[in-house]
Amino acid sequence: MWSDRRILDLLAIEHPIIQAPMAAASNAELVGAVSEAGGLGSYGAAGDRPDRLRSVVQAIRQRTGRSFNVNLFSAHTEAFDRDARPGPRLAERLEAYHRELDVGPVPEPGPLFGPAEEQFRVLVEEGVPVISLHFGADAAMVARAHQAGAKVLCSATTVAEAKALEDMGIDAVIAQGAEAGGHRGTFTVDYRRALIGTMALVPQVVDAVSVPVIAAGGIMDARGVVAALALGASAVQMGTAFLGCPEAPIAAVWRDSLEAAGAEATTVTEALSGKPARGIRNRYVDEVEALDEPLLPYPAQYSVSRVLRKAATERGDSRFLAMWAGQGVGLIRRRPAADLVNELVAESQKLLDRLAGA
Ligand SMILES: Cc1cc2nc3c(=O)[nH]c(=O)nc-3n(C[C@H](O)[C@H](O)[C@H](O)COP(=O)(O)O)c2cc1C
Repeated sequence: MWSDRRILDLLAIEHPIIQAPMAAASNAELVGAVSEAGGLGSYGAAGDRPDRLRSVVQAIRQRTGRSFNVNLFSAHTEAFDRDARPGPRLAERLEAYHRELDVGPVPEPGPLFGPAEEQFRVLVEEGVPVISLHFGADAAMVARAHQAGAKVLCSATTVAEAKALEDMGIDAVIAQGAEAGGHRGTFTVDYRRALIGTMALVPQVVDAVSVPVIAAGGIMDARGVVAALALGASAVQMGTAFLGCPEAPIAAVWRDSLEAAGAEATTVTEALSGKPARGIRNRYVDEVEALDEPLLPYPAQYSVSRVLRKAATERGDSRFLAMWAGQGVGLIRRRPAADLVNELVAESQKLLDRLAGA
């Protein structure tokens, strides 16, 4: 039923539907279910130690013999400034939150992600069929992945980033619009200059590169899928929609907040992690943004709220969580991942027929 087969052949999948890799919000169960349904299941491995990553890859293989994707944050992202300390206002705020929740002392900043080089080695050794990258790529890594037989994808948030990725030999570009949930993949400019909506970004990227383009950001149902294909995308990558699936390993309080949220509930903020990312606005975001003081660099900013976030998760308290979500969140629905993929396929077919006047 799909007229553009480029991504299907490239990634060895049946439908042009990619479940977005989501660090801390994807697992072998979700990935296996999506891949078994004919889409591309993706695992967000950014936070994993190499041994854990290897066991997740093996668990995915036990659930599906089909193609799947594992995503890493690019190597430069793991740089962690050991001397970074919160400014006086942030330190005071964090201490006040810790007193309020009675969770002991504020932790020192610590590294959270990677090390990307070791993670990457696991993916190569395990023969992962598709590797996707966020926050840019480098040509040497792309070449090593190709030597290992993997296809490589990477997010771009501007036309220039998409061209740079094509020059590095990437197999397909993910055009990540400003609506997208999670971290902005921007790697060349200040993120404020790269908040381009999916509707505007996708066709401009399609015109600028010859590799297939995957549309991401705000796509929640078949209407979004068909719109993205009409813009020239060869496939879609959907994150927020898959957070509604019971397989997604997110806390109940996060899922409840997603279901209660409307289109205006999210914001792009650096307050949570130190890097711009779209999530549901809450007390922590509002108050940390209002401090009017430089934040810690990424990922130190993220790390200083780790005790707070863990306690808030356990208590079902949404005020202090990082609840990544895109602007399409008002369309989220609870249903198993395979049902979501099947429905996207069936509804897209109906919509394409209707638009064709069939
Ligand atoms: C909870 C969550 C976590 C995410 N984590 C990652 C990640 O680890 N790596 C990545 O490349 N993209 C990540 N993203 C961004 C997605 O790849 C994609 O750009 C986004 O989900 C598309 O927008 P949508 O959420 O509106 O569908 C994440 C998105 C969400 C919602």
